Amino acid sequence: MTVTFLGCGYLGLTYAAVFAAAGIKTYAVELNPDRLNPLKQGKAFFFEEGLEELISVGLKNGKLIPTDSYKDSIPNSDVVFSSVGTPDNPDGSPNLDYIYAAANEAAKYMSPKTIFVQKSTVPVGTGSKIITLFDDNDSKAIYMSSPEFLAESTSVRDVLYYDRLVIGGTDKKGTDAILKLHETVDNQRDQIAKIAGIKPVKRLDERVFVSIKSAELIKAAANSFLALKISFANSIAKLADASGADIVEVMDGVGIDQRIGRAFLNAGRGYGGGCFPKDVSGLIHSASDYGVDLSIMEAAQELNESMPGYIANRIKQILGGLKGKKIAVLGLSFKAGTSDVRQSPGIKIANLLDIAGSSVSVYDPHANGEAKKDLRSGIKIGQSALEAADDANAVIIATAWPEFRDLDFSQLKQTMLGTLIYDADNALDKDQVKKEGFVFSAPGRSA
Ligand code: UDX
Repeated sequence: MTVTFLGCGYLGLTYAAVFAAAGIKTYAVELNPDRLNPLKQGKAFFFEEGLEELISVGLKNGKLIPTDSYKDSIPNSDVVFSSVGTPDNPDGSPNLDYIYAAANEAAKYMSPKTIFVQKSTVPVGTGSKIITLFDDNDSKAIYMSSPEFLAESTSVRDVLYYDRLVIGGTDKKGTDAILKLHETVDNQRDQIAKIAGIKPVKRLDERVFVSIKSAELIKAAANSFLALKISFANSIAKLADASGADIVEVMDGVGIDQRIGRAFLNAGRGYGGGCFPKDVSGLIHSASDYGVDLSIMEAAQELNESMPGYIANRIKQILGGLKGKKIAVLGLSFKAGTSDVRQSPGIKIANLLDIAGSSVSVYDPHANGEAKKDLRSGIKIGQSALEAADDANAVIIATAWPEFRDLDFSQLKQTMLGTLIYDADNALDKDQVKKEGFVFSAPGRSA
């Protein structure tokens, strides 16, 4: 089988690289030259563990074919995956322009035998509209929905080892093609993981066969529920701060209950990235389009948006003001393990402190470059954690990179002017930091 991925962003590029490494002839269609040109040279436009190793294998074995041409790729493909971006509109609703543009353009080159699989996250009901579009057009391609569940920083691992493969749509040929492609990858997953330098993990490997609409809603609901868990943990963190409990102890206790689970109950500076903020607001808009009240998600969203300001305010209380204080923010990517800075809480915190009159310096091991455009102009970007922390009254750990956990705290103490460490991503060993003579604080751990 030959496949095409339309859109080589964080999702499409990872899938294309894994499929090609499994020996599947894969066209990687990307219209943005800033992404396509590096890809032709074996480079990803973002940092993700193991990805460039797989890209290089795909380019060498000729199975990965980067191109900007629908015409050269789609007519030769049995399956076309749509993995284009869905940015936000200013009102928070998803902008589906790329989704429809890709479907429209692809329709020009598909036949009734082509299987078109939607991988991007789209509002429930989008598939029906694209099916009408294909039917109105001569292509009459088969439409299926198979949303992805990969998380950045573990993308390659998540494509290889997964809990569920959702297949939305009842067409037999479409279902069989998706199953066969995944089987091809699954049969070689340990070898591909080895090339990528990733440890194999055990997952459930469930296949979930549902309607297109259910598949669309599974994806939106799963992401929104995880975001809800995080916002719930952050609400309890505020209560822990006010009452003197410790949020890590609380969530460790709560999460032991298998009905609840410990995952996604890490309180901190809130969720960021290209998925949760967008998917939560997308679900709210989608519900409202269907006349359904989803105020539970509005509350989760509001709580999340409050976290950077909450943290800036806590630091203000501890330092006795922010104006004129020198503060270092360590961690600018939205989570550790990626250079992606979309909706990054660390950047939001740094900008808020700058607005409040602090002198802010920042550092991230992989995201300094990508963060620059989103940081206010007065903020200094350091080349190391210690450089950013030089003479600082306080250091904020905004993203839990391992190198911040492993910091030489006695050296940090000598570098800093003050002694406050604010562990905004709840990443550090509180007792170890205190032992070094620091004042330690974190969301939900200020007791
Ligand atoms: C998410 C989903 O996990 C993935 O299944 C989906 O396909 C895409 O969206 P991603 O956004 O890449 O993946 O990362 P994730 O690990 O889910 O983290 C999202 C944000 O939540 C990050 O900012 C992270 O720091 C934050 N987070 C996560 C918390 O604040 N607390 C937690 O307990 C977990």
